[in-house]
Amino acid sequence: MLEMKKMIADAVVACVKQSKPDAELDGVTVAAMLEYPPDTKMGDLALPCFKLSKLLRNAPVRIAAELASSLSVPCVARAEAVNGYLNIFLDDGYLADRIVPEVLTKKEKYGAPTFGEGKTVVLDYSSPNLAKPFHIGHLGTTVIGHAIKKLHEFAGYKCVGINYVGDWGTQFGKLIVAFKKWGDRETVEKGGIDALVDLYVRINNAISGDAEKGIPANPSLADEARAEFLKMEQGDEENLALWRWLVEKTLKANDEIYRQLGITFDSYKGESCYTDKMPAQVQKLRDKGLLKIDDGASIVELSDYGMPPCLILKRDGSSLYPTRDIAAAVDRKEEYDFDKAIYVTSAGQSLHFAQWFKVVELMGYDWADKLVHVPYGTVSINGAKLATRTGNVILLRDLFGLAIEKVAAIMEEKNPNLADKDKIAEAVGVGAIVFYYLSNNRIRDINFIMEDALSFDGNTGPYVQYTYARTCSVLAKSGAYDREAKMTVTEAEEAELIKVIARFEEIVREAIDSYEPSVVTRYILDLAGAYNRFYHNCSILGAENETVKNTRLALTESAKTVLGNAFDLICLAKTEKI
Ligand code: ARG
Repeated sequence: MLEMKKMIADAVVACVKQSKPDAELDGVTVAAMLEYPPDTKMGDLALPCFKLSKLLRNAPVRIAAELASSLSVPCVARAEAVNGYLNIFLDDGYLADRIVPEVLTKKEKYGAPTFGEGKTVVLDYSSPNLAKPFHIGHLGTTVIGHAIKKLHEFAGYKCVGINYVGDWGTQFGKLIVAFKKWGDRETVEKGGIDALVDLYVRINNAISGDAEKGIPANPSLADEARAEFLKMEQGDEENLALWRWLVEKTLKANDEIYRQLGITFDSYKGESCYTDKMPAQVQKLRDKGLLKIDDGASIVELSDYGMPPCLILKRDGSSLYPTRDIAAAVDRKEEYDFDKAIYVTSAGQSLHFAQWFKVVELMGYDWADKLVHVPYGTVSINGAKLATRTGNVILLRDLFGLAIEKVAAIMEEKNPNLADKDKIAEAVGVGAIVFYYLSNNRIRDINFIMEDALSFDGNTGPYVQYTYARTCSVLAKSGAYDREAKMTVTEAEEAELIKVIARFEEIVREAIDSYEPSVVTRYILDLAGAYNRFYHNCSILGAENETVKNTRLALTESAKTVLGNAFDLICLAKTEKI
């Protein structure tokens, strides 16, 4: 559609210049003014002429009327002036001949912008804190982050996905105390992550106590934990060996989740990798006169920027989260020379990122403006807040398990002879959760309602995956067809489908510009809806003649290709059969 918009915009400029040769107007500006009307009865595109009225010193109604009578572009069937808008109706045949062959030749590249070529993006996402369970709260950073990576890759960027695992910090002190008090190797070897989570929950409960049960708080355990962590920071081999083993256990447990989601990372350099890189940055802060001692701790004052101070070193000299982020960013700049570094975390960390981004700028790093924080809203489950510390969470593993089970049961009923049932149930079950999550604008808080997530009616993952499978089955049944033949558009549903397909590249651009995968999710629903309307109203294999049949098969293949390209962008598996 970008191409059509450009053609129309250039023609509008030419029309304008005919009556006003010195008007300062160019095609790019006009193309950006073109809108999609809320109802196709008002055209496929519309130009709100009030946007030109100041420049042309003319009333919008008159501008629209003049353009309607003089505009002549091959892709436009007719243009009408209505209330100061120029409503543009595209020529279906022209569009079909332009768009469909392009999809059929470009295939998995169809819709891909090229503005990222030669540029590098580093993406920090998922990054769970090890030793804690991988729960539904991590789904956001994992799937939003990966979708943003895929979108950038699609636009030609070289992308580096970094899982900056939280493998350092007081939580390991806590786990070490708990392990030494209540744990043993055998239980952890056998129980894996579950045994570790039990220990983690137990120590947190012991620290905070439980008023209801009459268990008093025990803050000295927190002191012990801090002391154990400090020992780690100072290189205590016993604690470090224990830590390495704990990290290995959790990483293994997370691998299965990433496999189910089809996500791989290019780097697993976690927080612990930066312990030796921090002193140089702390020194730089000191040299620049940015560091202040406040009650024994080292901070960077940020009140001039309307923010609380950024904590760099604790009183005991141990490092902090922002310090590690600064050291990691410097390291990544050196290693990858990124054009953009994206961090995907919950909105709860927005201040943390704003603070350390500012510190990096004050340190004089000229790439500070290339750091981007992409926040997302919180998740609650059936109305209740999550709390890792007390164990009130749903593990992703269990959530995926439930979804897969439900899909498997439905498949058993509907299609018992399907080959590869387990694989398909996994793809559709996990897809249902991913699609549900990515259907929301990322910044909105989500109340995860299990029944809705797993409902297979309406605008869900299974519905769109089923639509994809439908395109595959039509093409499998038809066998080869003439992919070069001229298109013959005879029905409104065919034209509608082509127009949705034509919008794909714009959707991709919008999703990248706004770091918003839900733009793609919504588009997938539009496309699936358009294909299904076409499928129900236009007989494909029983079409009245070969030319129409060819057109419909080419449309089916185009829908399949674009659905598939869009699925790839949001970690949704392309299911050929369901
Ligand atoms: N491990 C952190 C957490 O789970 C997220 C890390 C995000 N990335 C970063 N560079 N700070 O809260």
